[in-house]
Amino acid sequence: MTIRWPAEAIWEQVAPLLPGFTVEILPQIDSTNTELMRRARTGRPEPILLVAERQTAGRGRLGRDWQSDTDAGMATLTFSLGLPLQPADWSGLSLAVGLAVVQSLHPALQLKWPNDVWLDDRKLAGILIETTSAGDLRYAVIGIGVNLQARAADGLRTPPAALVEVLPAADAPSTLEAILLPLVRAVLAFEQQGFGALRNAFHARDLLYGREVVCTDGTTGTARGVDAGGALLVHTAGGLQKISSAEVSVRPVPTDPPRER
Ligand code: BTN
Repeated sequence: MTIRWPAEAIWEQVAPLLPGFTVEILPQIDSTNTELMRRARTGRPEPILLVAERQTAGRGRLGRDWQSDTDAGMATLTFSLGLPLQPADWSGLSLAVGLAVVQSLHPALQLKWPNDVWLDDRKLAGILIETTSAGDLRYAVIGIGVNLQARAADGLRTPPAALVEVLPAADAPSTLEAILLPLVRAVLAFEQQGFGALRNAFHARDLLYGREVVCTDGTTGTARGVDAGGALLVHTAGGLQKISSAEVSVRPVPTDPPRER
């Protein structure tokens, strides 16, 4: 089935903000993040939106895979935004990106630190941000995968959430168009102002706030939001701990018995 992507509409919205911006839609690639990192490292650090209808080697945070559905382009939206970026301080970029995604899609979506998008205590979307140097500049690749339709658990503890649960008409083109301009604006605002001003907005969407959490570095306690640099604050038996490492993953301790599904 041919997907009608809103490439021109997106280009018209974004090009005034990102001179030289292009939009590229591919039927298949290993990973949109891998491809943009390859291009930047071989001298093509251009502002670009790269969308793939199917990824054969999608990547997630912490070296994990990101599984797309076999029903290419229908059940998941996968894309990367690549652009040169020079913020004074990079900390909190991933939170600012996650915030732009949830705010552009639906009020019921929440963020699980640092930038997973959750709905109803299940993961809905993932974000992978990578950077590389390109001459004197740094080039950022912001990769986003959104589950649109219900998917099998595929070895996950619980099946992922799907955007159609809250937006029944959601499809890949409309979801991409809803996210892109707010995302670009958020990244450019972050470049100028950093994360600090977004702290309250993050707290309004913070899935972990006030919940018992377990971190893979052994920290356990009650999540207390984030600091001005986007570090997770956890109230532990030994006092307030800051978790800022991208290598640490956090999960909420379930409060209710698992739902029957
Ligand atoms: C995560 O949840 O760990 C992050 C998942 C990020 C997936 C997206 S899909 C588009 C882009 N290309 C990739 O290979 N990964 C990101």
